[in-house]
Amino acid sequence: MDKSFNYLISPETIKLRGFSPKLKIAILASGEGSNFQELIDLSKSNKFDIDIRILITNKSDAGCISRAKKSNISYKIIKKSDNENNDCFEEEIINTIKNYDVELIVMAGWMKIMSSRFVNVFRSKIINIHPSLLPSFKGNNAIKEAIKHDSKITGCSVHFVEPEVDSGDLIMQAALPILDQDNLETISKKIHFLEHKILPLSISQAGFIVRNSFKGND
Ligand code: GRF
Repeated sequence: MDKSFNYLISPETIKLRGFSPKLKIAILASGEGSNFQELIDLSKSNKFDIDIRILITNKSDAGCISRAKKSNISYKIIKKSDNENNDCFEEEIINTIKNYDVELIVMAGWMKIMSSRFVNVFRSKIINIHPSLLPSFKGNNAIKEAIKHDSKITGCSVHFVEPEVDSGDLIMQAALPILDQDNLETISKKIHFLEHKILPLSISQAGFIVRNSFKGND
């Protein structure tokens, strides 16, 4: 992929912070896991002080699983179809996250809408990456929708998760032009490239917020 295309990331001020001890995170992913891989690579090369405690996926054939295995990261497959109902499915995820003692939950291609109950258990500690400039094009097929609507600019966003889908405070966004010669594949590749840049930065920012909000009043 030609990485010399024009893009804009905002805010420019967000940088990767140091965390000591490392920031403990859980990854929720349903797909290929290229964002997950970026985090693994940054962590392995000591460029980012994160401790990926657990990968949770809801798909037994998700590409992210082999990435976890290869890097010796704990993973758990939790499928809705293996549970009696949605409450049980979410309960298993909640308990797993609690068992792994994490500070921040990162939805990196997690293709399952979670209930407000789930969101409220971890309120202000869950972030999500979405392939559009929110609040435009929420939900699935965001890139297709942007193209269908003849958008001239699109991008990706990282935000804190609220019960309403793809809403919540924005942490960081990246924007890029949609050119005449672009198509779903070229835009998807460019968006992934930008996601790999803004997700670590957003985790850093959210981690800083989460850590500081737990300092207490003493
Ligand atoms: C990303 O485009 C993300 O925005 C969307 O799912 C995709 C996940 O990609 N929610 P990957 O699995 O990290 O490669």
